[in-house]
Amino acid sequence: MDRIRYQLSGDVAIVTIDHPPVNALSAGVRSGLAQAIAKAGDDPSVEAIVIAAEGKAFIAGADIAEFGKPALPPALPDVLNAIEASPKPVVAAIQGVALGGGLEVALACHGRVALPAARLGLPEIRLGLIPGAGGTQRLPRLIGPVRAFSLMLSGDPVPAERALDWGLVDAIASDDLLMSAHDLARSFAKGAVRPVTSARDELLTAEQQAAFEASAEDALRKSAGMPNVAALVEAVRNVFALPFEEGTAAERRLFLSLIADERSQALRHVFFAEREIARVPAMGPQMRPRPIATAAVIGAGTMGGGIAMCFANAGIPVTLIETAQAALDSGLNRIAAIYDMSVSRGSLTPESRQTRLALITPAIGLPAAATADVVIEAAFEEMSVKREIFGELDRVAKPGAILASNTSYLDVQTMATATRRPQDVLGMHFFSPANVMKLLEIVRPQGVADEAVATAVALGRRLGKLPVVVGNGFGFVGNRMLEQRTRAAERLLVAGAMPYEVDRALVDFGFKMGPFAMADLAGNDIGWRSRKARGLTAAVADAICEAGWFGQKTGRGYYRYPGGARTGQRCPEVEALIMRISAELGASRRAFSRAEILSRLLDPMVNEAARILDEGIAARPGDIDVVWIHGYNWPAWRGGPMFWADRVGLDIIAKRLEGQAAEVGEKALEPAPLLKRLAAEGRGFASLSAGPGAEAAPRKALEPMP
Ligand code: CAA
Repeated sequence: MDRIRYQLSGDVAIVTIDHPPVNALSAGVRSGLAQAIAKAGDDPSVEAIVIAAEGKAFIAGADIAEFGKPALPPALPDVLNAIEASPKPVVAAIQGVALGGGLEVALACHGRVALPAARLGLPEIRLGLIPGAGGTQRLPRLIGPVRAFSLMLSGDPVPAERALDWGLVDAIASDDLLMSAHDLARSFAKGAVRPVTSARDELLTAEQQAAFEASAEDALRKSAGMPNVAALVEAVRNVFALPFEEGTAAERRLFLSLIADERSQALRHVFFAEREIARVPAMGPQMRPRPIATAAVIGAGTMGGGIAMCFANAGIPVTLIETAQAALDSGLNRIAAIYDMSVSRGSLTPESRQTRLALITPAIGLPAAATADVVIEAAFEEMSVKREIFGELDRVAKPGAILASNTSYLDVQTMATATRRPQDVLGMHFFSPANVMKLLEIVRPQGVADEAVATAVALGRRLGKLPVVVGNGFGFVGNRMLEQRTRAAERLLVAGAMPYEVDRALVDFGFKMGPFAMADLAGNDIGWRSRKARGLTAAVADAICEAGWFGQKTGRGYYRYPGGARTGQRCPEVEALIMRISAELGASRRAFSRAEILSRLLDPMVNEAARILDEGIAARPGDIDVVWIHGYNWPAWRGGPMFWADRVGLDIIAKRLEGQAAEVGEKALEPAPLLKRLAAEGRGFASLSAGPGAEAAPRKALEPMP
């Protein structure tokens, strides 16, 4: 019982969970709770029981790190049944969050009191699961099946006030939570208590059933085949069809089958990887970030404007700097238009729009950055331009200011050498649209102070981003891997596939868009300029640009976009051009299956990722997964490229790469030393990390592989 404290307050037993950081229901907590309830039951002086918790959460749910490992008794449903069956009333005293199994504990109690700032929810759906300890059966019986279904389907917690409206909690505590819970428990002790499982007829009506079925149908249509949505529908349907005991038994079966499902395994891996990125290697946890009260952004283009919005959205005053008034005006107009759209959609109030716009101060010339605590350069992607800016920033910026570049590819160290303060210079690479995408690569060149890196990480979190610290190498993590995919896509065109086939393979895999639709959206001229600057060629991509087909903005690229359409149509001229280039290059075109297209696109990325890990550009495989999920739309339920590669099997990927390298004669396709080594040892990338998410993953390809 070392995670549970048991105290008496008059005739009320106070059972306090104390299991930092978030009181997750690990085996020790479950058994401690069961013992405490039994002890209170046996003590004749106890009339009622309060379950309370220490720290920032009431209970954050089941211990996710235990999933996929052998189950340790007691099982949570058994503990909850014992709480519910207690003849002495039990009241939950909720502060912070009551999530997942944590809310299920509260639902098994006979009453619930929450602090005003508490939030209650069942977020299991985000982990590819459903509630597995009676939540799907108790919640509909307490607040009605329609509300219960929407709460479990969204996974979003509700604030205490709404929980009170819905009858999810009995009372909101004024300030002394324990006292309020104590009083409620004592009031229950005087009369009969009604457990949540005694269904309220008025909630399980035919109208409620019809309304639930309508929401269920809608959810299933939008679920993209996720098995947990179907399982949730089935579980809630059981509330109408089965007695509580049978309903919970069915729920448990569904829950356990979902735990074993590869999509849930992937989502759990992502949960831990997203938290692991906070542990920046070779940096003490005590590193204190510098205070950031004001910011400046250089360049009011799409990226600069989006970055300025990130600051304004977080309530940080920001100066947006340009060299000429016209560019500044158009940047500000673009920002205002984006906020206007949010207002018209109802996601932003007109007052917040005003507040945010008022936090953005337009200015001409770099001296306007003089008072900023952090300056982010988002100017043209050209080293000479960047060095000139950093040289001048060195003269005007205040001492100790963080000087960051938003470069997507370039060497941040070369920028730092344009200053006399390399300890303050780093990369903060946002992803487009910067005000939406959560990924932020923090580029750490040699010579930068740990304190500056810690400041950038803390700032990223304040801006609502997921900051991943990466090394300073061309394209860092994300774009370096993307380049391999781009090259692979071009190779596929020359060898026999068409753009729509390549794109479809990735969309079927779960991406929102394939590489060619993406290139058309971003503008094909961007890659063309970059290739020319580096002396590189790509026969098809170059020919498309030479024809002036830059993508959506010119009405045609790899696809046609008649009348400004957002979705492209196949273009016979492009297909003829591809055939011609294949012939000119002497390629004998052949058909590619979708699975083969997929492996040809993704294997080279995995190979590059192995080099990135070897060079220390990424600290952990999980960091790479976070980069690709939050910066490039890799489907989270596929766990990221490293997780995917482990499932396919590194030996299989290494073999396929060897075959491709021989066929194409490209050295970059030869398996990287780390990939080769892990494959030879029968290990996966996960074996390089010791984090809680590093579950022993059974190898299983997620789709047929050639
Ligand atoms: N199990 C295990 N560890 C957990 C956890 C859980 N349910 N929830 C959080 N943690 C750990 C995190 O991994 C992190 O650990 P490190 O510090 O070692 O990295 C630590 O607690 C703090 O978490 P955060 O960094 O996320 O802290 P935060 O303050 O930003 O957020 C939180 C706190 C809102 C509780 C958030 O962690 C969260 O949403 N947790 C997950 C909640 C959840 O999904 N619960 C459902 C679990 S499934 C279930 O309960 C099934 C069932 O029906 C029985």
